[in-house]
Formats: sequence, structure tokens, C-alpha cells
Amino acid sequence: MTKRLGIIGYPIGHSISPIFQQAALDALGIDATYEKWEVTPEGVGDFVNGLRAPDSWGINITLPHKQAVIPFLDEVDEWATAAGAVNTIVNHDGRLTGHNTDGPGFLRALLVETGYDPKGTRALILGAGGSARGILLALVRGGVDSLVIANRTMERAETLAKLAVENGVKSEAIPIAGNVLIKAAASADLIVNCTSVGMSHGPDEQGTPLTAAEIPASAIVNDVVYTPLETPLLREATAAGATALGGLHMLVYQGVLSFQMWTGQEAPADVMLAAATKEMTSRGA
Ligand SMILES: NC(=O)c1ccc[n+]([C@@H]2O[C@H](COP(=O)([O-])OP(=O)(O)OC[C@H]3O[C@@H](n4cnc5c(N)ncnc54)[C@H](OP(=O)(O)O)[C@@H]3O)[C@@H](O)[C@H]2O)c1
Repeated sequence: MTKRLGIIGYPIGHSISPIFQQAALDALGIDATYEKWEVTPEGVGDFVNGLRAPDSWGINITLPHKQAVIPFLDEVDEWATAAGAVNTIVNHDGRLTGHNTDGPGFLRALLVETGYDPKGTRALILGAGGSARGILLALVRGGVDSLVIANRTMERAETLAKLAVENGVKSEAIPIAGNVLIKAAASADLIVNCTSVGMSHGPDEQGTPLTAAEIPASAIVNDVVYTPLETPLLREATAAGATALGGLHMLVYQGVLSFQMWTGQEAPADVMLAAATKEMTSRGA
């Protein structure tokens, strides 16, 4: 029986998950298809219940359904419960479990591509939205020593700093500008951009939260933005002599971890990364 996999979202047209997941299935000769389905908010419950069918292995979930799927699942794992969001559903003979591979995918990408281990390090998170929250929890779980959260809206940065403190990590909220930001960057081992600054067609396409002069050469700079593949911040990081990593790796590695949950096989990460890069390049990213 051909197995079915896919991703739901609303809208979903932009998703490149079908490209790199199908490339992985084909590379391993697995008889399965990975599609994308646009599901309206009203249709989420019926769609998720349909995943109990024997030909379904499960799905990925993207915006805006990551919370909405939770009530329709039989079990939600610890990571997804902490994140309050599910990005992967697995069908075990009609029983549906919910998982979140976004945070673990972020950590795996950094480890594989740069050797970074959060244990005992100081991290600066730029932004305080949905992706910043997941990344903060991943760093906390990874044993980070301290966190600084810089954001335009201070209240949101303070909420995240409080979350880190509640989880036993020293944390501070600061504005994403001025000397206080420069000082935080100077002492950071890891700098992660979780704002939409620098994103194509975003609020500040040409913008960068930090310039080369403000980035220490010893830092790892990870931009979660992946359109374009090389963001203004990554260009500044490279000019500073720092290690620069783009957001496509995080996207692919969350998929690598989902793939392993569905198929029980080691995912061909290099095949997936090559397929994702080729697709983004063909889209002009
Ligand atoms: N690589 C991946 O796998 C992955 C995964 C998730 C998201 N992403 C990317 O990450 C980015 C953020 O996503 P999200 O879901 O976290 O978005 P979000 O929840 O909407 O948060 C957006 C963040 O950007 C800040 N921001 C927006 N415009 C700004 C500006 N002009 N100046 C300064 N800060 C600004 C916001 O600050 P305020 O709080 O002040 O509004 C907020 O901190 C997007 O580009 C998304 O595509 C990538």
C-alpha cells in the first residue's frame, strides 16, 4: 500500500516541504507520497480524524494550525506540550500522536552545520514572536547558561525572558537597538535572528538587526529567515568573520526529524538540503 504524507496550512502554496520530503522518500525507495493540503480553520478536525486511515503515516502542520490540531490528537509529547504547538502528527494504527520538531530541528541544524552545543553558552535572541519562543525553549532544554531577548515591543521580550527564568535560566529583555543591544551582541556565543527583518517582501527587506562591526568574530549567527537564502544579517556576519547559518537548515532539519518519526528510517539530510536549496534558488531566493 502506498503510504500518504503531507503538510497542512492555510495558505499552503509557499511550502517547500513536499519538495525535500519527496526527494528523501524517493532517494530511499520508499513507496509513499508527500503532498500539500490547504485546510481551512473549520476543516482541521475532520482532516485530522481522517489521518487514522491505514494508508496515512501522518502529516506536518504549519501556520495557522499548530495549536488547532491539538484537541483532535490522542497524545501530545513533552516538547510539543511545552511549545504549545504541534508541527508533526504520527498515525500509529489509528492512534494519533502530536510532536514538535521545530526546536529540536533548530538545535540539530546548528550542531551538524557548526558544531554548536548550547550547554554553558550565552545566547542573544533577536525577536519575541512565535519562532523566538520555540527557539528559546530549545536553548533552555539544551542547557544554555544565559539568554538575552531583544525586541521592538518590550512587553513581548519581557514575557519570553520570564519564561526562561521560570525554566531556571538567567535572562534579560532589552530593546532591539542602541548600546544595550551592541553590548549584548559583543558577549554572545550565539546570535539568532527571529525577526522578519531582512525577509524578502517583509517589513524591512534590506534591514539587518546588527552590522559587521557589532558582531564578534567568535559568534555563531543563525538567521531563521530563509528568503533570501543569504540575508543582510548573514552578509554582515560573514564580513565580521563570524560563522553564519541560514534558516533553510532549520526548516530542513525539522523535516529530517519528522521523516524519521514516520518512516523509522534515518533521513537523507544531504539529499533534503540539496533539494530545498535547489527549489529556493529556482524561486529566486
Ligand atoms: N527557518 C525556519 O524553519 C523558520 C521557522 C519559523 C519562522 N521562520 C521565519 O522567522 C521569521 C519570524 O517568524 P515568526 O513566526 O516568529 O513571526 P512573528 O511571530 O510574527 O514575530 C515577528 C517578530 O519580528 C519582529 N519584527 C517585525 N517587523 C520588525 C521590524 N520592522 N523591526 C524590528 N522587528 C520587527 C516582531 O517584533 P514585534 O514583537 O515588536 O512586532 C517579532 O519579534 C519569519 O521570517 C519566518 O519566515 C523560519
